[in-house]
Amino acid sequence: MTAHVIEEYGDPDVFERTTVEVPEPGPDEIRVAVEASSLNPVDYKIRQGALPDFAPEFPARLHCDVAGVVDAVGENVSAFDEGDEVYGMPGGAGRQGALADYVVGHAGTFAHAPESIPLEDAAALPVVALTAWEMLADKTSVDIGDEVLVYGATGGVGHIGVQLAAWFGADVTATASSEAKRDLAEELGADATVDYTETDVEAYVDEHAGGDGFDVVFDPIGDEHLETAFEAVRPFGTVVTTESSAAQDLDLAPMHANSLELGVVLVILPVLLGDRQDRIGEELADIAALVDDGAVEPVIDERFAFDEVAEAHRLGESGDFRGKLLLVNE
Ligand SMILES: NC(=O)c1ccc[n+]([C@@H]2O[C@H](COP(=O)([O-])OP(=O)(O)OC[C@H]3O[C@@H](n4cnc5c(N)ncnc54)[C@H](OP(=O)(O)O)[C@@H]3O)[C@@H](O)[C@H]2O)c1
Repeated sequence: MTAHVIEEYGDPDVFERTTVEVPEPGPDEIRVAVEASSLNPVDYKIRQGALPDFAPEFPARLHCDVAGVVDAVGENVSAFDEGDEVYGMPGGAGRQGALADYVVGHAGTFAHAPESIPLEDAAALPVVALTAWEMLADKTSVDIGDEVLVYGATGGVGHIGVQLAAWFGADVTATASSEAKRDLAEELGADATVDYTETDVEAYVDEHAGGDGFDVVFDPIGDEHLETAFEAVRPFGTVVTTESSAAQDLDLAPMHANSLELGVVLVILPVLLGDRQDRIGEELADIAALVDDGAVEPVIDERFAFDEVAEAHRLGESGDFRGKLLLVNE
């Protein structure tokens, strides 16, 4: 089969198109003919060499997200049949990923694809929707009328976070660095938007959270956003984040001073551990139902062929896009 691999870490041009053996599924696995994948920061961080513990063995087939058609089913798998349209997060970190004609993964890392959107578009969802879901429904809960602040509101994770928080009935304030991004945040359901590059945290707390802070701050960016998250949240409130800066050098004093809760998500962990992988498929089934109910939809800014993976990585690393960048196996 054709695959796009890296033999070493490097810049986006390090990808090579090559031919490799079609992988065989083990007893608990399925093989999927890949229609599409999408770009997540974890893919370019692995390519850069920034996450050596996550890299698949070289030559490494990267990319975590996939949508496609089941092509072969392991003997212990009953949830899927050949020909089923599925989406999932089977590898790309810890094991070989989706940038190839076929990907093999634990059956628990897949679910049937949403029926209301094209199959290839479903590849925009797994990593970001699982992450946003775990941040808002697993690490905390959001109720009708809660005031929720979403940082990075038109990035991959944030644009699903805005939609989910709005669907839970929250009053959503979204931050984004450009007018075009803030317009999209409103279209996705934000009640208010903030240009965080121009507005102090005290000012947007006063204006959008009645002065004492947001019930929940949703932070998929980390670093200075995580620091301002602790200023923006109310006493006894919750900060949810995806970022390792939470683990590395977070000053916990503001958490103690305001009796806060902190939730940290590492969505790929079941794949890295080879354990509890069924939770991925179970959550993806819930997310497919939300998509089919019209509660959540992926925003796809640009589509690239697998042969254009370097271009997609360059655009992704620039941050100059809204929603997701899709990679289609043409
Ligand atoms: N731990 C986990 O399980 C997990 C899961 C998914 C993602 N993540 C991490 O969460 C972060 C966000 O993921 P994502 O998919 O939402 O990323 P993304 O689609 O690239 O969006 C990131 C957003 O961050 C903002 N941003 C701030 N500084 C930036 C910079 N220097 N370069 C690019 N964007 C910047 C941008 O919004 P503004 O222009 O409005 O600032 C952008 O829209 C990434 O670091 C990713 O690795 C972690």
